[in-house]
Amino acid sequence: MPMPSTSLRWTCLTLLCISVLHCARAANCTASDSAALLDFKNGFSCQDINNPGLVCQFDTWVPGTDCCNSWSGVTCDATGQVTDISVFGFWNGDLTFQIHQSAPASTFMTQLPRLKALESIDIQFARFGDAELPKVWGQIAKLKHINIVGVAGFTGEIPKEFGNLSNLEVFHWDTMVPTTLGPGLSDSKGIPKELCKLHKLREFYVFLLPNWSGTLPDCIDGWTSIQSITINNGDPDSYGEVLNTGGLTGPLPSNLGKLKTLTYLSLVGNKFTGSIPKSFGSLSNLRTLRLNNNRLSGAIPWKELSQLKFLVTLDLKINNFHGTLPPLTPNCFQNLEYLDASNTSIWGELPRRILDLPMIGTLKFRHVRLWGWIPSATFMNASRADFNFDFSYNFLSGPPPKLPGPTGVFKAPHNKLSTSIPAAYGSLYTLDLSFNRLTGRVPAAVLAVNSLSLDGNNFTNFP
Ligand SMILES: *[C@@H]1O[C@H](CO)[C@@H](O)[C@H](O)[C@H]1NC(C)=O
Ligand SMILES: *[C@@H]1O[C@H](CO)[C@@H](O)[C@H](O)[C@H]1NC(C)=O
Ligand SMILES: *[C@@H]1O[C@H](CO)[C@@H](O)[C@H](O)[C@H]1NC(C)=O
Ligand SMILES: *[C@@H]1O[C@H](CO)[C@@H](O)[C@H](O)[C@H]1NC(C)=O
Ligand SMILES: *[C@@H]1O[C@H](CO)[C@@H](O)[C@H](O)[C@H]1NC(C)=O
Ligand SMILES: *[C@@H]1O[C@H](CO)[C@@H](O)[C@H](O)[C@H]1NC(C)=O
Repeated sequence: MPMPSTSLRWTCLTLLCISVLHCARAANCTASDSAALLDFKNGFSCQDINNPGLVCQFDTWVPGTDCCNSWSGVTCDATGQVTDISVFGFWNGDLTFQIHQSAPASTFMTQLPRLKALESIDIQFARFGDAELPKVWGQIAKLKHINIVGVAGFTGEIPKEFGNLSNLEVFHWDTMVPTTLGPGLSDSKGIPKELCKLHKLREFYVFLLPNWSGTLPDCIDGWTSIQSITINNGDPDSYGEVLNTGGLTGPLPSNLGKLKTLTYLSLVGNKFTGSIPKSFGSLSNLRTLRLNNNRLSGAIPWKELSQLKFLVTLDLKINNFHGTLPPLTPNCFQNLEYLDASNTSIWGELPRRILDLPMIGTLKFRHVRLWGWIPSATFMNASRADFNFDFSYNFLSGPPPKLPGPTGVFKAPHNKLSTSIPAAYGSLYTLDLSFNRLTGRVPAAVLAVNSLSLDGNNFTNFP
């Protein structure tokens, strides 16, 4: 990288920032907001976490100075009222937190409603001892954002009083490491029905809830602006696991299907029962539907889901769904890139042309009860790469199918595939056809595949 121009750029950027900050200098902090913040600060202390470079933000909260312009983590509006407060600490490997609670939570958590213009509460990486989400935050009339991430010892229910936060747009709670930071949300009421009044809510996100249970209320269609709902009690695809305790129960309310603005719905690792409401076919803006690792049953409403034009990701694995895969209708699953229905009780034949879905990249049906042939792709697209098809542990028979592209991952071990392996498989990255009934010669190109498993067949030249 050419150093001189980079440093020049930084200099210009810095000058620009200084001038912008100067112009945007907020009015002086009001005395009442300043006093409320100092009372809030009194609930905390900062400690050395063996890194002198990490200055505690509360050190800048000095009485008599201007909270709007010189206090770290505080933002004001043009009249000098505090709009955003961000408590952002550090922690080290021993779980020593820089910012920690030093007074009973009731004395400091209740100060924030004194900030009449407050729109955003953001608390990350601090150690609380006994704090619960305070009911009185339900009175912060202008509140738009609540963001709680990695706050040790912060628990409690979502108070029904939060139903009065008519401006709330984002509720975000990430427990991060429940084993060491504590359980996060913890009660058995789930989402109180009073919260259905949050018509401006755009995003509801809760991650890891070992002590939270309860249900989704039927009135959830009151969330008329909602775009994204995540209630994940772990996640095998990112966190690596789902938690054994906690998670919401009961059915998925049919009214979820009325949330036309919803693009993202992820309810991974809960204990939802019952079937997927057919009304989900009305979620016309849905891009992602993740219901994996629940206790859902019944037939999957394939017909309804396949008509969702924007649906990209459909993860249904590890549930009790049963029934067969119906034939694919024209233009169905137009944008589907990811489908996983592994470890469900579905059975029968794979629909014809499933490998021809225009955008399909990942297709996983592991440990279900599929039989019949794997349908071949009808044409190979030379620029198509990185598909990942996994049909492990089924009863599939017939010859290995034609694949839709030259490169990718193809796994179908523990089936009854027969005849020989096509030479075209030689350009795959990963091929696993172990424990089938394949015969003949393994083509030389296939023997060169990077990750290859062909044990448990009857080839003339392998092993
Ligand atoms: C803000 O406070 C500073 C010093 O306390 C003072 O000089 C300045 O005039 C005040 N500005 C406004 C807009 O009140
Ligand atoms: C919501 O606000 C109304 C009026 O502002 C009040 O009467 C009611 O008790 C509040 N509800 C809750 C659950 O706090
Ligand atoms: C969380 O649940 C466990 C057992 O399920 C219990 O021992 C613990 O006290 C609970 N913690 C809280 C804060 O509710
Ligand atoms: C899927 O099912 C198989 C067979 O019942 C089981 O061995 C495997 O552990 C299951 N996988 C998961 C992730 O539950
Ligand atoms: C071939 O695959 C590429 C990459 O996935 C895709 O952009 C293109 O539309 C495909 N062409 C056809 C004819 O399907
Ligand atoms: C493997 O194939 C040979 C003939 O190619 C046959 O004689 C033999 O019985 C087969 N073995 C098994 C285990 O199917």
